[in-house]
Amino acid sequence: MSASRPASILQTRFRLAYAYPVFFGEDFLRPSDDTLARVLASKAGAGRVRVLFAVDEGLAARRAIGDELSTYAAAHRLEMLGAPVSVPGGERCKNEPSVLDRLHATLHELRVDRHAFVVVVGGGAVLDVVGYAAATAHRGVRLVRFPSTTLSQCDSGVGVKNGVNRFGKKNFLGTFAPPVAVLNDASLLRTLDARDLRAGYAEAVKVAILKSPGFFSWLQESADALREGEPEVVGVLVRTSAAIHVEHIATSGDAFESGSSRPLDLGHWAAHKLEALTDGELRHGEAVAIGIALDATYSALAGLCDGEVATSIVALLARLGRPIAHEALRDARLLEGLEEFREHLGGALSIPLPAAIGRCTDARAMDGARIVEAAARLLSSSLHRRCAA
Ligand SMILES: NC(=O)c1ccc[n+]([C@@H]2O[C@H](COP(=O)([O-])OP(=O)(O)OC[C@H]3O[C@@H](n4cnc5c(N)ncnc54)[C@H](O)[C@@H]3O)[C@@H](O)[C@H]2O)c1
Ligand SMILES: [Zn+2]
Repeated sequence: MSASRPASILQTRFRLAYAYPVFFGEDFLRPSDDTLARVLASKAGAGRVRVLFAVDEGLAARRAIGDELSTYAAAHRLEMLGAPVSVPGGERCKNEPSVLDRLHATLHELRVDRHAFVVVVGGGAVLDVVGYAAATAHRGVRLVRFPSTTLSQCDSGVGVKNGVNRFGKKNFLGTFAPPVAVLNDASLLRTLDARDLRAGYAEAVKVAILKSPGFFSWLQESADALREGEPEVVGVLVRTSAAIHVEHIATSGDAFESGSSRPLDLGHWAAHKLEALTDGELRHGEAVAIGIALDATYSALAGLCDGEVATSIVALLARLGRPIAHEALRDARLLEGLEEFREHLGGALSIPLPAAIGRCTDARAMDGARIVEAAARLLSSSLHRRCAA
C-alpha cells in the first residue's frame, strides 16, 4: 500500500519568549512605593492604567486590603474598573464552580479587556482561580500576583500555572500563563496563622531535595527558628525557594511541562490524593509534607537512596512542625493517586523520587506493597506520634 501524501504543507514555526520579574520587599502597597505602579505603566502603553483588584477574603478579614488597594490606586492615578473583588479563601474557591463563574461574569460586566490588568492578592488557591479566570477571559487578560501565604510566595505564586478542581480532580481545568510580575511582600505574611505560615515549608524542602544540598543544610540549621515563624528566617526561606523554583522554570527547557518528567511534583502524587481523601482537611502544604515523607521512605525501601537520606528528610519535616503521616495513608484508594497523577501528566508514569539530597530519579513504576509498607513505617514512627499528639 502506498503512503498517502498531502497536496501541500505549510510549515509554521514561531517562538515566544517570556520574562517576568519577581520582587521581594516589604509594604509594596504603601502609597509612597511605586513598584507596582511602575510595573503596570511599563506594560500599559499610552493612556491611564486600568486595573481590577481581586483579594482573598481570608486576608481581607484581617487587614483592610481593599482600602489599601483603593488608596494606592488613587495615589498613582490607576483607573480602578470596579471595587476590589472579594474571593473566598482556601481550596473551596477552586472546588466551587460558582466562584469561577462569578469571576468571569465580573470581568465581562466591568469590561476588563486584554489591555487592562487583573491584580490579585491572595493565597495559592485564590491566585489559582483568579489566574484561571483571567487567563481564559478574552484568551488572556494580564495578571499581576501578590502571593499572601508562605506557600504561594515560595512556590505557586512565582510560577506559570493556574487551575481549578473539577470532577474530584485537582487542577483538572487550568492553563500555563506566565504573569506580568509577582510582588512578594513580606508584610502580607504577618496576618497568617501558624498553620498557614508553616504550610509552605514543605515546598521549600521539596526544592532543596531536588536541587540544593546547601539549602537543605540551611533548613536543618534554621528549623527551630522557622517553626517559631521568625520573620527574617522565613524571608530567607521564601527568597531561596522562589529563586530555585523560578530558575527551574527558566532553565529546565520544559516550562510548560510537556515532557513526562516533572521534578517539581516531588511528593505530589500522594499529596493530591490525600487532599481529596481527607476532603480538604489537609492543606496542600501539609499533604505535600506527607507525600515527600512517603516517597523518601519508599525510595529507601526500594534501594533508590540511602536510608540516611530518607531519615534526614523525614526528621527535617518533623522539626519544621510538618505532619509526616495521616490516617488516610491507610486508605486503599491512595494507590489510585498514581494513575490519576499519570493521567494529569499524560504519557508514561514518571514519579520523582529522592536519590540523594540534591538529586532525584524518575521512577517509571511504584510497587503497591512497598508504598503500603512505607506508609505503615511513617504511621508507627515516634516522630509522627509526637507530631500528632
Ligand atoms: N499553580 C501552582 O503552580 C500551584 C503550586 C502549588 C500549590 N498550588 C495551589 O495552592 C493552593 C494552596 O495555597 P496556600 O497554601 O497558599 O493556601 P490557601 O490559598 O488555601 O490559603 C490558606 C488560608 O489562608 C488564608 N489567607 C491567605 N492569605 C492570608 C493572609 N495573608 N493572612 C491571613 N490569612 C490568609 C486563606 O483565606 C485561606 O483560608 C492549593 O490549591 C494548591 O493546589 C498551586
Ligand atoms: Zn505543591
